[in-house]
Order: sequence, then C-alpha cells, then structure tokens
Amino acid sequence: MVTHKMSTTESNDFLGSLLSNIPFGIIALDKSGNIKLANHLAKEYLDLKPTLDDLINLHILTCIEQIPVLSETFAERFQHIREPFDLKSITINDKYLNINVRLIPNGSIIFIDDITRFKEMEANAVQSIIAGQENERKRIAREIHDGIGPLLSFTKLELDSFIDDFTDREKGFSSEKLDNIRQTIDAITSDLRDLSHRLMPRLLEEFGLFSAFGNLVHRINNNTKTNVELYCNFNAETRFDKEIELNVFRCGQELLNNAVKHARAKDILIQLIKHENSIVLMVEDDGIGFEMGKQDHDKFGIGLTNIDTRVRSLNGEFLLESKKNSGTTASLEIPT
Ligand SMILES: Nc1ncnc2c1ncn2[C@@H]1O[C@H](COP(=O)(O)OP(=O)(O)OP(=O)(O)O)[C@@H](O)[C@H]1O
Ligand SMILES: [Mg+2]
Repeated sequence: MVTHKMSTTESNDFLGSLLSNIPFGIIALDKSGNIKLANHLAKEYLDLKPTLDDLINLHILTCIEQIPVLSETFAERFQHIREPFDLKSITINDKYLNINVRLIPNGSIIFIDDITRFKEMEANAVQSIIAGQENERKRIAREIHDGIGPLLSFTKLELDSFIDDFTDREKGFSSEKLDNIRQTIDAITSDLRDLSHRLMPRLLEEFGLFSAFGNLVHRINNNTKTNVELYCNFNAETRFDKEIELNVFRCGQELLNNAVKHARAKDILIQLIKHENSIVLMVEDDGIGFEMGKQDHDKFGIGLTNIDTRVRSLNGEFLLESKKNSGTTASLEIPT
C-alpha cells in the first residue's frame, strides 16, 4: 500500500480523486447499511437525489426506495443474508447496470457498472445475424421468383397451346410442342436441384470443405478465363462442425464470386488452413482491386456484409485488404 507514507490530508485527497476518476459507481456502507462514502457515478447511475455530502450517513434503503428492483432485493439481503451478491443487467433509468455487493471488515461496498453500451452492441450483433439470414431468404425468394416462376408460367402457356391444338381437330397433335414442354420441365428440375444445392451443398455435407472447394475451383477453372488455385493443408477426411463448414464455404463462394465478377482477375489463390484451434480461409486475387482501407465497412454490399455477419456469428475475424490496381486479399479466421 502507498497510503502509509501519506499524511491524512494527502490520503484523503488521494481517495477522493480515486473515487471521482474510477469508471464505475461505488458506495461504501457500514455494518448497519449507512452510507459512508459514495462517488458521483453511483449517484448518477442510481439517480440519487441528495448531494454526495448529504448522502453520508443516510441509510442505503432510504436512498433507493424509489427503485423497486433494488429496494426489494436490498431490503431482503440486508435483513437476512450477510454475504456478497450480484445483480446482473438490471435496468434503471434506461441504463443497463451490473451491481456487485462485496463484504469488507466493517460493512460492505456496492460496485455499479454501466453495461448499456455492451448490451447495445450485443443487440446489434444479433440484429445483423438476423439481417444476414433475412438477406439469404430474400436471395432464395428472388431465385424462385425469377428463375423457376417464369419457367413454370412458360410451361403452362405451352401446355395451353398444346391443348388448344389437340382439341382443334384440324390442327391435330404436335409432338414438337410436347417436346418443348418436356424440355422446360427438365430446366425446372435442374434449377430446383441447383437451388437445393445452394441451400445445403450435398458435396459439402457428405465430403467436407476440401471436396466442396475442390469442386468449386474445378467448375470455375472450366467455365471462366480465370485460373484458380487451391491450397489446403487438410484432406477430405478432416471434418469441422457443420455450421463452420457451411459458413466457411458460403464465404468462400462469395469471395470467389467477387474475384471473378468484379476483379477481372487472371489468377486467384484460395488457401484453407487448419490450425490447432481455428480454420483460416484466404482468397487472393490479382485483379483491379477497389479503394478501401482495412475493414472499411461502408464499401460493403450485401455479399461482404453477409460474410462479416457469418464470421462474427462464429466469433471469428474477417479482414479485407484492397487497393486500386493491386488486387484484393480477403481472409477470415474462425475458432474451431
Ligand atoms: N475481389 C474484388 N475485386 C474488386 N472489387 C471488389 C472485390 N470484392 C468486392 N469488390 C467491390 O466491393 C463491392 C461490394 O462487394 P459485395 O460482395 O459486398 O457486393 P456485390 O458483389 O456488389 O453484390 P452482391 O454480393 O450482393 O451480389 C463490389 O460491388 C465491388 O465494387
Ligand atoms: Mg458480391
């Protein structure tokens, strides 16, 4: 302790400045529950009306009688139980507070911490996960609406026309029209299969990240001018939690999609690295890049926002670095 070297005045000053600068509310009580010391944050958080000086020697229960959540618990605790206790996330005057009561030799100390900001951040995180899921649903709805919807209407038109012809004895039966209908139904079947794969890719479910990425890379290499290389330090036998696999794969799909669609990259390198307690996905392209600093979230569209949401929902970290004409590097790490 430093105080033994101080005079009484010095140590009072020291205590005073400690109390007024400490970032939480403090109230010290004697054994009977009378206030012996309080700082301005305690007064503010609990909305105590008397001045700090006038609070001294008032009984704690008199001071907090206008706050039912506190007065009931405190009344009970102070009468029967003589042990430390905590009140978590209680709301007083639109603030979320954590209140911890600890025993000291001649009484007790009440610590009051304002956790409103933390609570708001928590609520925002949940909100953005919900928004991410909502966007996913909108994408699927769009896919059904724009892809399968028109194909079905088209089949209906073809069928109507076929039936008209069929009932019109002069025109008679046309096998060509029936053939058209068959082809449209084939297209619908294939679109539906694609859509269900997009919901939960079968390859990923059965054979894991190594195979799913292998297949994705193979398809891009065969269908675009971009050359994609995959480096993975594990094989098809290595499996991760289902949530992690699906989210890492979805992020990889979007990052690759961006690299092919926006970057006009010649080469893309994807790395999937398993560490002892995490998995890292890194996608680098040598394309046109775009103007942004590290984690400049304002530039994010739905695709990048979804990645950020997915990664954060798994307690991971997403970093994006890009510069005009110097390519883009995206990396994410998720604890396993
Ligand atoms: N690899 C990249 N190279 C160059 N520009 C990129 C790259 N990735 C993203 N961008 C830029 O960042 C913007 C935001 O990307 P994001 O994926 O969030 O949205 P989007 O691809 O435009 O739309 P969506 O993903 O919803 O179809 C893109 O429009 C593009 O301008
Ligand atoms: Mg995108």
